[in-house]
Amino acid sequence: MEAKRREFLGTAIGSLAVCGVARGEETPNGELVASPPVAMAPRSDGIEFGWSVTRLCRGWIELEDGSGVRRFARDGWGLVPQGDKVLRVRLDGLEPGTTYRYRAVTESMEGEKQRIESGWREFQTLDPSASSTRFVVWNDTHDFSDTLRELDRKTPAADFLVWNGDADQNKWREEAAIPSTLLSPGGTDFTAQRPLAFSWGNHDARGTYGFRVPDYIATPSGRPFYAFRSGPLAAVVLDTGEDKADDHPSFKGRVASEALRREQAEWLRKEVIKNPAFQDAPYRVVFCHIPLRWTDEETVYSFDHFSKRSRDLWHDVLVEWGVQVIVSGHTHRITKIDANDEFPYAQLIGGGPQLDLAAWIEGVADKKSLRLKVRKLTGETAAEMAFAPAR
Ligand SMILES: [Fe+2]
Repeated sequence: MEAKRREFLGTAIGSLAVCGVARGEETPNGELVASPPVAMAPRSDGIEFGWSVTRLCRGWIELEDGSGVRRFARDGWGLVPQGDKVLRVRLDGLEPGTTYRYRAVTESMEGEKQRIESGWREFQTLDPSASSTRFVVWNDTHDFSDTLRELDRKTPAADFLVWNGDADQNKWREEAAIPSTLLSPGGTDFTAQRPLAFSWGNHDARGTYGFRVPDYIATPSGRPFYAFRSGPLAAVVLDTGEDKADDHPSFKGRVASEALRREQAEWLRKEVIKNPAFQDAPYRVVFCHIPLRWTDEETVYSFDHFSKRSRDLWHDVLVEWGVQVIVSGHTHRITKIDANDEFPYAQLIGGGPQLDLAAWIEGVADKKSLRLKVRKLTGETAAEMAFAPAR
């Protein structure tokens, strides 16, 4: 932990005491910034950064691309990005497949004057025309700090990281738990080498303050479902919602998953499968937290082990598109289910919160194949699948 803290501090300018801030605690020494700048929602023409702050401040991103330093300092509403819990800065107009140097600058707007500059860091935009891509997936980390630190240590750099749901454990009983869980999980700087594509799990929308999560997490669409190309891979991120009916008493009237599932079915039909970038993709993958298939679909459990609620709405359009594999978590059991006549798409599941259950999934797609491996923290490959190009 201490080594990781030093590693991060070593890249920062100023006394940026970030890592190790426990949920709900005051940041040590009244520091203004409480997380690294988290690279989120990677696109071919941009990206978005979010970072945790402890009092009212403003901030921006400075980008260096060889021709000088550009400042991205607007929030879409005619203001410099401001906030007292999180700052968000969206970057547009960038070139695909390009590496940029950047730093985040934060200035206090009340109380003691402070200005914090992060160290200079790098990110790369997605490249839809690349001949290959590599991605990684985490599932069901549930805010287990040891697991998050090990995953961060073992998971390689990649074009993107899908954090595929159930990042939370304590169901957001207080909003102060959100930034430390999502923006510096386990005290890590987890997007330093792999920008985050967040996928909502059922736990990520739970609790009194689950509705605040979108304040902290950016997606390319501003919604919990979106699609993008990275090289030969077409990726669709879907939100399977809760794992019980919306009117289940434990939800206390807070949940409206069914309408969201229906909206995604329409979106898939109208926007995704008609988009040439998705029609032509050699490989087609869906990332969603709750699996769409399970090994035992007859047993009725107290919560959904697979989201039949989602599959009933999405199956036909996903088959029409030609999805090859659904990558999920939720069950905490490494599982692979091959395609068959009834379900012409495979299902891969991997990851769990405890160190012995934890896993990361590596995906590599190139001209020959898409290969997926579920890797345990021991280095063991626990499951693997491969797919030929769809076309
Ligand atoms: Fe879950």
